[in-house]
Amino acid sequence: MLLVEKISEMQAISASLKRENKKIAVVPTMGYLHDGHLNLIKKAKSSSDIVITTLFVNPLQFAPNEDFDKYPRDMERDIKLAEEAGSDYLFCPSASEMYPQNYGTLIAITGITSKFESAMRPTHFNGVATVVAKLLNATQPHFAIFGQKDFQQTLVIKQLIRDLNMNIQMIIAPTTREEDGLAMSSRNVYLSEQERKDATIIYKALGEAISIVQKGEKRRKIVNAVMHKELRSVPYIRIDYAAAADSEYLFEPEEFLPSQQIVLLIAAYLGKTRLIDNALVTVPTI
Ligand code: PAF
Repeated sequence: MLLVEKISEMQAISASLKRENKKIAVVPTMGYLHDGHLNLIKKAKSSSDIVITTLFVNPLQFAPNEDFDKYPRDMERDIKLAEEAGSDYLFCPSASEMYPQNYGTLIAITGITSKFESAMRPTHFNGVATVVAKLLNATQPHFAIFGQKDFQQTLVIKQLIRDLNMNIQMIIAPTTREEDGLAMSSRNVYLSEQERKDATIIYKALGEAISIVQKGEKRRKIVNAVMHKELRSVPYIRIDYAAAADSEYLFEPEEFLPSQQIVLLIAAYLGKTRLIDNALVTVPTI
């Protein structure tokens, strides 16, 4: 696996690969790779000739009060894991390469960014959209692979690719989970032993909500209440949101319609650690 730090070098490599008719897939990450990322790299490998993994902890998507400085980093380990999973290139630019002194462009996505993660982190998705556009411009892929775990982020990137007419196919891969259901996340390392045990409540709450929807419950407030009740069985949990919404536009109708796909979204703090997770369920037709 080749390490590439310069945008111009990455672009030249991709252009040359394209001249050889190679299909290129990119897996954007912020590093501290876990099995979730490695599954994305493996999926990328199965759909393309060349996999570029990007590793950049993007300062633009963290608010001043968030964990940018503390975000876990382990470059040596990431290089080894990315290579073992099948990555051909690791694009790892510095902050000054991505955002030089005269940098002045920010991409703002509207609509789907009016709620949930955006309500809690108002500048987050502008930072994500901006860095993803830059990473896609640098790597020039045919395919871009993202995990379903960051569900609202996948909608933001879908919108970005569509609105800016990028000729890139986005692939969304299912969330990789620990054996007890906890969604894999680089932030799980922040959890204490007790918090780690209690964190499974998020997966259980999603399961309860799926179950009542599949039994015919269409009232959004009831579905939300079921998730809140389950989450509150861990008394110290702080719920940012636990909400059912339309999976395409995040609309929140009073009642969902037969055959509508719902996304169940949860963000909650266990101690100081904020975890997010989601699940999809389709309303039965009868
Ligand atoms: O999901 C992530 O790890 C990041 O938000 C991404 C897409 C790599 C952009 O920094």
